[in-house]
Amino acid sequence: MKRRNFVKLGLLGSCSTLLTAKPTPNQITLFDAFSKPVAIPPILEPILSKEGIKEYTLNVQEGQSQFLKGAKTNTYGINTDFLGPTIRVQKGDTVRIKVNNHLKEETVLHWHGLKVPGINDGGPNRAIEPTKSWTTKFPINQRSSLCWYHPHTHKKTDIQVYMGLAGLFIIDDEESLKAKIPKEYGIDDIPLIFQDRRLDGNAQFVHKQSMHDVMMGVTGNIFMVNGVINPYIELSPKTVRLRILNGANARFYSFVFEDDRNFYQIAGDSSFLPNPVKMKQLILSPGERAEILVDLSDLKGKTIMLGDSFANKALLLIKVKDEKSQRFQIPNKLTTIHEYQDLRGAKRREFSLDVRPGWVGINGKQMDMNRIDEKVTLGQTEVWRIKNPQNMPHPFHIHGCSFKILSRNSMPSYANEKGLKDTVLLYGGETVEVAVKFDHIANKNYPYMYHCHILEHEDAGMMGQFTVEPDYI
Ligand code: C2O
Ligand code: CU
Ligand code: CU
Repeated sequence: MKRRNFVKLGLLGSCSTLLTAKPTPNQITLFDAFSKPVAIPPILEPILSKEGIKEYTLNVQEGQSQFLKGAKTNTYGINTDFLGPTIRVQKGDTVRIKVNNHLKEETVLHWHGLKVPGINDGGPNRAIEPTKSWTTKFPINQRSSLCWYHPHTHKKTDIQVYMGLAGLFIIDDEESLKAKIPKEYGIDDIPLIFQDRRLDGNAQFVHKQSMHDVMMGVTGNIFMVNGVINPYIELSPKTVRLRILNGANARFYSFVFEDDRNFYQIAGDSSFLPNPVKMKQLILSPGERAEILVDLSDLKGKTIMLGDSFANKALLLIKVKDEKSQRFQIPNKLTTIHEYQDLRGAKRREFSLDVRPGWVGINGKQMDMNRIDEKVTLGQTEVWRIKNPQNMPHPFHIHGCSFKILSRNSMPSYANEKGLKDTVLLYGGETVEVAVKFDHIANKNYPYMYHCHILEHEDAGMMGQFTVEPDYI
């Protein structure tokens, strides 16, 4: 087996990766690479109310995390020190979520990928003051998917996510429950949140320092999976399902296995793909999700690295258990995308991702909480044409919907974009058309957002607000 370069690079970890000005007296160092097991975020058990509503409590709080040997890092977390539990619901459920803000600053949680009314969406207009709570109740009515939650605090989303506020929100439906694919959470169906960080010589997070960090987004040289730096995971020699979230502020990942093996993408942001898509490399921009199936049956008793070929880094060591291998047949049909068949009469809108020296915006404007940028009619299919006239890539995210990519640079969308999505990556010079429809109201007090999901761009103003209302308003 030919080892890729990133394996060597990934094993080089030492204090040289910390942003030390001078040698630290208390010997703060990285733990040995791949010596710690990955943490699987626990599934938060709801309390079932009399009316059958699933009730959850999320405590947004300060904490301390032992990322490094020799010192703890100040972090934020939800019900814990860093990151948060997984909320797992079924289509048809109604949930009630109470968010308690125990921070010393305002925050709010947004349900990224969920089709819920603006009033429940957790946008910047929903800020929760310190010591205060927000309770929100909504039905789940959308396809099975890996969604997530994170803060959406006005101008502070980037730093609050960086400090550790993020968690998974998994939706199951009939189709996903009966699909013949691995589905034992944490056993052969593994949630993986990929993030990167910079740490200083005192083991503290270092977020944006300069205009350069705003313009490029904050990327770090410390690679975490589910909040653990360079972890390992033990898996059986069989086909496993990895549910991957790019939860980084600004880093783009290109996931590859060290021997360049094939794997299959089965789902994107908001639905299964119609058919599994065979690939060796999976690119995910911030905010995007993918589910993949990878066959480990030939690796009984061996190891394999999952790495990032953009940074040339090993991210996760997979130790394959020395037990009987199991063969598995990947189903060739996963779902049918029946949404957005009829585009006749669709209203069209254009969005331009604009970058100027020291300035990012959309359609020549920067986010203004007092301005509604677009007014959309409830239930009407639209075609949004998004263009990126400059060089830097941007992931464009839309709240309150699952859209379908119609074309990329006037060509058909990629094979792994044939499902529904809520975030689409545009490389420099690209133009993407998406069909989109909104099924819930978002009024001017609680509008939806569209924005770049490089969080430093979002906070710098690369975001707009829109309402969704019936057309008699
Ligand atoms: Cu994941 Cu408006 O965000
Ligand atoms: Cu969102
Ligand atoms: Cu951007």
